[in-house]
Amino acid sequence: MTTEPRDFTTIGVIGLGTMGAGIAEVFARNGFDVIGVERDEDGMTRGRGHVENSTGRAVARGKMSEGDQRELLGRIRFTTEMADLEEADLVVEAVVESLEVKKAIFRALDDIVAPSAVLATNTSSLPVTEIATANSRPGRVVGIHFFNPAPVQNLVEIVRTVVTEPAVLADVEGLVGRLGKNPVVCGDRAGFIANTLLFGYLNHAVAMYEAKYASREDIDAAMRFGCGYPMGPLALLDLIGLDTAYEILETMYRQGRDRLHAPAPILKQMVTAGLLGRKTGRGFYTYEKPDSPVVV
Ligand code: 3HC
Repeated sequence: MTTEPRDFTTIGVIGLGTMGAGIAEVFARNGFDVIGVERDEDGMTRGRGHVENSTGRAVARGKMSEGDQRELLGRIRFTTEMADLEEADLVVEAVVESLEVKKAIFRALDDIVAPSAVLATNTSSLPVTEIATANSRPGRVVGIHFFNPAPVQNLVEIVRTVVTEPAVLADVEGLVGRLGKNPVVCGDRAGFIANTLLFGYLNHAVAMYEAKYASREDIDAAMRFGCGYPMGPLALLDLIGLDTAYEILETMYRQGRDRLHAPAPILKQMVTAGLLGRKTGRGFYTYEKPDSPVVV
């Protein structure tokens, strides 16, 4: 007997940083009602700003009308109250990569969302199983891993645990298809498919730069023009955020002990010095003045 895939209508997104705001935008672009939760007013204003900027760029390029932008923004309800998620049939958590913070959120969701709701984490490297078991319905929890920038990248990794219900997995695959994105399914291992493959390469590029083997521009140019990548590895690290990249590498290295994932020392030093990439204006490149050299 085959059952119809579930029709989701209201999506909760917890955490409206770069990824969370992008995820909220993706759902709103596709006609879903979105409840975007941040922990305070400042976070809420920043989250709304992310979506306004991103959709504003589409308006400026003639890809979206101002009316459509208004409607899209009108579909996102910004709030600081987790309790407002009671209407959500899917909740996507996209807060900082901290196991404790994520587990606390999944514990709290127990008393808020309907038993039929599906719960998802956008973690890129933490154990989905541990996050799922903080909730009393781990069978209804999956990983839904978007890529940065979420409105542009067409891949979503769906992470199943040993207790994920097959119907939940099928419903989420159907939903990702409705977003116009390609779902891929994998098990619960740090890095999943794409980051496991990508971050060994990114880390190697950092080590090459650290050893002064080649300039940052030449390392990036080699991969863009020689291999057709849309961005070189060092520019991509600046987009991802060096703190995020470091955390992902650390977690993968702890779990797999693959030397490829042992973070290059300079990465940690840059994070300590606050050179986090685009979000702080400086990483491997400087963003206020793109041509000025980076002193590291
Ligand atoms: N938010 C929303 N839209 C954006 C955007 C953003 N931050 N940045 C670019 N765009 C849109 C533009 O509006 C434009 O849309 P259009 O085609 O409809 O007009 C389109 O993307 C192309 O943008 P640009 O012409 O300005 O620039 P590029 O053609 O150079 O593309 C890029 C920019 C999309 C970032 C491209 O360089 C790219 O795909 N880079 C690789 C990104 C990547 O590998 N991401 C994965 C990182 S790993 C990850 O996220 C996993 C996580 O766990 C860390």
